Amino acid sequence: MRQAGRSLPEYRKVREGIAMLDSCMMPELVTEITLQPVRRHGVDAAIYFSDIVVPLKAIGVDLDIKPGIGPVVARPIRSRADLAQLRALGPEDVPYVTEAVRMLVAELGATPLIGFAGAPFTLASYLVEGGPSKNHEHTKALMYGDPELWAELLDRLAVITSAFLKVQIEAGASAVQLFDSWVGALKPADYRRFVMPHSAKVFDAVAGYGVPRIHFGVGTGELLGLLGEAGADVVGADWRVPLDEAARRVGPGKAIQGNLDPAVLFAPEAAVRAQTDEVLEAARGLEGHVFNLGHGVMPDTDPTVLTRLVEYVHERTAR
Ligand code: CP3
Repeated sequence: MRQAGRSLPEYRKVREGIAMLDSCMMPELVTEITLQPVRRHGVDAAIYFSDIVVPLKAIGVDLDIKPGIGPVVARPIRSRADLAQLRALGPEDVPYVTEAVRMLVAELGATPLIGFAGAPFTLASYLVEGGPSKNHEHTKALMYGDPELWAELLDRLAVITSAFLKVQIEAGASAVQLFDSWVGALKPADYRRFVMPHSAKVFDAVAGYGVPRIHFGVGTGELLGLLGEAGADVVGADWRVPLDEAARRVGPGKAIQGNLDPAVLFAPEAAVRAQTDEVLEAARGLEGHVFNLGHGVMPDTDPTVLTRLVEYVHERTAR
């Protein structure tokens, strides 16, 4: 349940007066924030508190996260010369990540920590557009108009992302999630040609560690098979595709993650339970299922609704 923290008063309290990106570089604060939803909701895993643009910031890209907007990039990447902003990343660029992951693993005990990174396409979208985008028009203009430059951009991002995931795994993360949040904007043939080789490179780079690799996107119903083919062990689905159908599209040998619509959490409890039952029913008989929301928690979600949801899923799935 990404960004679950935002709905918590204890999160808003510790973040007061500290900018989002600054907070990601403070290991003690990162540890506290990561633990908050685990403590309050009793979820089965923790997701590392950071953001997909942290590795880009760490190598010197001039960007910020604007409250209520998201990542904003000072000099968007549109030409070959702009690529100079992207150099390789090493553990020495993100010492605060190594430190925070180590502290967290010690504190969490048996609860697994999920590390994560942004996938090449979604990072490229922020870098090329200069900020959040509805239609990704500059990104697509570059992808179709200069496939060579596009491939080089995504290749550099794959190198950075692989290194960032390795840092988290080597410090003790027990699973990793690759967020390709906006890749649902592409049709399958374009995903296969322009994106899949680069995301596959990331999954390959961390395959040797043997930790589960989760692949996530929104609006990716038509891409589910390819998201699995890219190399993930677990494929996330949003609420638009029932999980049994998602599993058919992904094919055998992989687990499915999802897929309660986060907006459902604003409905009365009986409706939340009915919608949860539907998800669990569709997941019955799958090779593996990670219960999750289909996208992040909305900031004004009532945290007690989340706690009750976790309790209910635990009740329903107890053996
Ligand atoms: O649950 C967690 O807090 C885990 C950490 C986490 C954050 N961002 C913290 C965050 C994770 C896993 C992310 C991933 C992320 N960031 C994605 C991929 C996942 C997804 O939701 O699709 C994307 C696309 C981003 C980019 C980004 N950063 C967005 C869209 C926003 C929200 C902007 C807004 O305010 O509406 C951010 C900021 C951000 N990242 C916040 C948090 C807790 C909120 C900022 C704040 O609290 O000040």
